[in-house]
Amino acid sequence: MVTIHFLPANRSVTVPRGTTILAAARLAGVTIDSPCNGAVVCGKCAVHLAQDSLHRIEQKGEHQLSKRQQLAGFVLACAAEAIGDIVVDVPEGPSELKLNITSHGESVAVALLPHITKVYQPERDVTTVYGGSTPLAEEEGDSSEESFGVVVDIGTTTLVVSLVDLALGVEVASASALNPQSRHAQDVLSRIRMAADEHGMAELHDSVIAEINRLISEVSNEAGVRRERIYEVVLSGNTCMLHLAAGVNPASLGKYPYTPTLRCGSFLDAAQFGIAIAWGGLVYLPPIISAYVGADITAGLQAVRLHDERDSVLFVDIGTNGEMALCHGGRLFATSTAAGPAFEGMNISFGMRAGEGAIERFSFLRDGAAKIQTIGKTEAVGICGSGLMDVVAALVSHGVIGKNGKFVSPENPELEPAIARRLVPQDGKLVFHLTDTVWLTQKDVRQVQLAKGAIRAGVEFLLREAGVEAASLAKVLIAGSFGFHLTASSLTTIGLLPPEIAGNIEFVGNTAKSGGEAFLLNRDSRREMAHLVTEIEVVELANCPDFDKVFVKCLSF
Ligand code: FES
Repeated sequence: MVTIHFLPANRSVTVPRGTTILAAARLAGVTIDSPCNGAVVCGKCAVHLAQDSLHRIEQKGEHQLSKRQQLAGFVLACAAEAIGDIVVDVPEGPSELKLNITSHGESVAVALLPHITKVYQPERDVTTVYGGSTPLAEEEGDSSEESFGVVVDIGTTTLVVSLVDLALGVEVASASALNPQSRHAQDVLSRIRMAADEHGMAELHDSVIAEINRLISEVSNEAGVRRERIYEVVLSGNTCMLHLAAGVNPASLGKYPYTPTLRCGSFLDAAQFGIAIAWGGLVYLPPIISAYVGADITAGLQAVRLHDERDSVLFVDIGTNGEMALCHGGRLFATSTAAGPAFEGMNISFGMRAGEGAIERFSFLRDGAAKIQTIGKTEAVGICGSGLMDVVAALVSHGVIGKNGKFVSPENPELEPAIARRLVPQDGKLVFHLTDTVWLTQKDVRQVQLAKGAIRAGVEFLLREAGVEAASLAKVLIAGSFGFHLTASSLTTIGLLPPEIAGNIEFVGNTAKSGGEAFLLNRDSRREMAHLVTEIEVVELANCPDFDKVFVKCLSF
């Protein structure tokens, strides 16, 4: 057995020799950011070891750390097995950083017709609370004006909670946080893998419910609303997130024929769910479209009323999953592609989530000097998704990256000298320096290429299925908290979207939340969506025989 001591938590655990630092940390209750759940892929679980501890570990697999980090004593927690007693210094994780999460979305005007209603009965001096026509509870006195509901947007990376006054139809407070599941498994597939194990499933469910409860407390306190006055929670999120929140194993989403266990469009008891609101309160799961087109999209369609459009309009929610829908000629089509976590800053050498010190904007000035904007206006420590898009777009348009995604030679006479100087060899490979301490590697560019290629391929297949040309699209609506921070020119310059639609792009923010509010405030909108999902034509990219060919074409810049 060996003993591992964790700092700054000051906790020790004794484990069998050969246990990884990550596994030991989980046993000790110490959280180490591990977005790929220990698959030695993301490179984000770096921890620091004191010099004498470095001899007491064995590394497995191909590690992802730079030479500089290795020399400074960093190792990947999921790849380092302890063969003696060691002391591990765990750096601050992203959940402790202040994150930049977009909580607003295009709001939608709906008639005030909530599922939860209250009727005061003066003869008994009680207020009866109804869910539809079913009595849920009785409250003493006249509380008919105090009626509240909550929308939770369970994103793969972030959670956004909104407290809504059902009597007035307005949001009274909102709060957001990192989805705690993302510390263990960054994307949907790694969460499905983690949930295969009973403990993994329990951890994923319990952690997200605990964080939702914490956020509900936060918004209630902020608005001065008692939790016992909240009778309904609408959960918006992709299909996998809804399964995990409901405590239902999402295993079926990971294997053919990719059938969700939950179809949603239903109510559950909040207490059974573990969500702490009024006794008798309900949780509503909006209808989903398929295993990979979830309630975040049905809420999004409701928010932008895509089905009411007479023109051809494309709706794209850019995130870890690229989910999208298209209306054309009175029909609705939907699909999703696995963009991967690159846009969240994962698998990128200096990638980070949208927290303080992240480069969020980047461009070249006329003389080739770099103009950099960081979140919090502090020194740059990494690059978040929107910054990454800007950087790659700037490098493409200034000829630093060729169509095939490769860095050109710094000797290329077409490069501005000030730009060429930033392209330098490091460990035998070219990297592009954004600052002295933050750079982009060829591998990073490849990750962006794969992510944008996946989304673009989804767009191309939707257009093809509907028989519409990109140039005929009246509008392209970009949703999602990540999408909100992007610029139209970056999206078309890197080819994530076809260049023909450059002038028609609109950013609509977090529609998973604003559409969830529509469900909360108007019960008819739920019925409408339950019917609509049966009519949406799902394009399964896995079944498209030439997907690989189109995807490869979409990789080029
Ligand atoms: S590399 Fe260790 S958790 Fe991803």
